[in-house]
Amino acid sequence: MAAAAAAAGTEEVPNRRVILKRHVTGFPAEDDMEVVAGAARLAVPPGSAAVVLKNLYLSCDPYMRGRMSKHDRPSYVPDFVPGEVLAGHGVSKVVASGHPDFKVGDHVWGITGWEEYTLIPNPGSLSKINHPEMPLSYYTGALGMPGLSAYAGFYDVAKPKKGDYVFVSAAAGAVGQIVGQLAKFTGCYVVGSAGSDEKVNLLKTKFGFDEAFNYKKEQDLNAALQRYFPEGIDIYFENVGGTMLEAVLLNMRVHGRITVCGMISQYNLEQPEGVRNLLSLITKRVRMEGFLVSDYLGEYHRFEEEMHSLGSSQGAMLASNWSPLPGSNVMLRRFQQPCSACPIHLVI
Ligand SMILES: NC(=O)c1ccc[n+]([C@@H]2O[C@H](COP(=O)([O-])OP(=O)(O)OC[C@H]3O[C@@H](n4cnc5c(N)ncnc54)[C@H](OP(=O)(O)O)[C@@H]3O)[C@@H](O)[C@H]2O)c1
Repeated sequence: MAAAAAAAGTEEVPNRRVILKRHVTGFPAEDDMEVVAGAARLAVPPGSAAVVLKNLYLSCDPYMRGRMSKHDRPSYVPDFVPGEVLAGHGVSKVVASGHPDFKVGDHVWGITGWEEYTLIPNPGSLSKINHPEMPLSYYTGALGMPGLSAYAGFYDVAKPKKGDYVFVSAAAGAVGQIVGQLAKFTGCYVVGSAGSDEKVNLLKTKFGFDEAFNYKKEQDLNAALQRYFPEGIDIYFENVGGTMLEAVLLNMRVHGRITVCGMISQYNLEQPEGVRNLLSLITKRVRMEGFLVSDYLGEYHRFEEEMHSLGSSQGAMLASNWSPLPGSNVMLRRFQQPCSACPIHLVI
């Protein structure tokens, strides 16, 4: 009976899902989300180009916070809808397909549901994983969206030159740790800021940053930057915004570049802060430019090959801390932490 249902594509399997209970203001609380029982069909609608994914790894990324709020004006990604499953970047296996580019058994990464199985009606935004021999979780980090963000933001937006002085905030995060390493590969001097002594130590001992400091221990961020960059900053890779950005603006060099990747210090505020010291953009002729990683998805496979070869030949690495989605075997990334016995060598 079960075999006949499977063959006919009518088989239903349990599907635990994480739903958003309500739109969020301020800091999200665990109670804003709920794990509920559901069911999934392991078949695509007849004649469609859809795929059904079995989700293996789900990543909790900062931009998801924005989607949890209700916006009066449409944002660059739609708000989550209360009562519906959360969506985010993940690594999945194709278990049913009507799409010529995706076969059953392929591994993919891209936006999927926070659940065990997801029907993707239009799989065009999924990227096929061409190196399934790599630990698949890397495709939520260095080989996935955060890695592509670092690569695009550093090379395409900041346009680094050998010898540039580079500063990275949230440097131990998924994006920042890759930016720092790309800066070193390019022959730059790179300093990172992070929020704990453990992370600062990692930046200097594992990821090859020239210097790093704990911004939470600094009374005066301007003085800290003057200490690490007596000649000023050529490239600031912006991940946090707020008072760090204000201090950086005072320390930029003439013709410096600020790549605006994110402003995480603002995401939980009900009223965003203003930014002082913008006059420096004029007096130092600084270019400050934002970008979205989604604009670079077309370059993903070139990036994947380049990172794969770097990963096989350089440095050390960082693993994520994974824990299971309650009641399922889908793994959820909680936060980054060091791992000393990892098989490849880019710090991922
Ligand atoms: N433009 C794009 O397309 C794009 C793509 C990906 C990511 N992003 C942005 O890039 C940034 C980094 O993303 P990620 O994936 O690397 O994040 P992540 O791995 O989740 O790390 C984020 C880190 O930010 C720091 N942080 C948190 N709250 C902060 C605050 N109030 N002030 C200062 N630092 C704070 C924390 O590190 P500490 O303990 O060191 O403070 C945290 O671990 C985010 O702003 C994200 O939105 C943008």
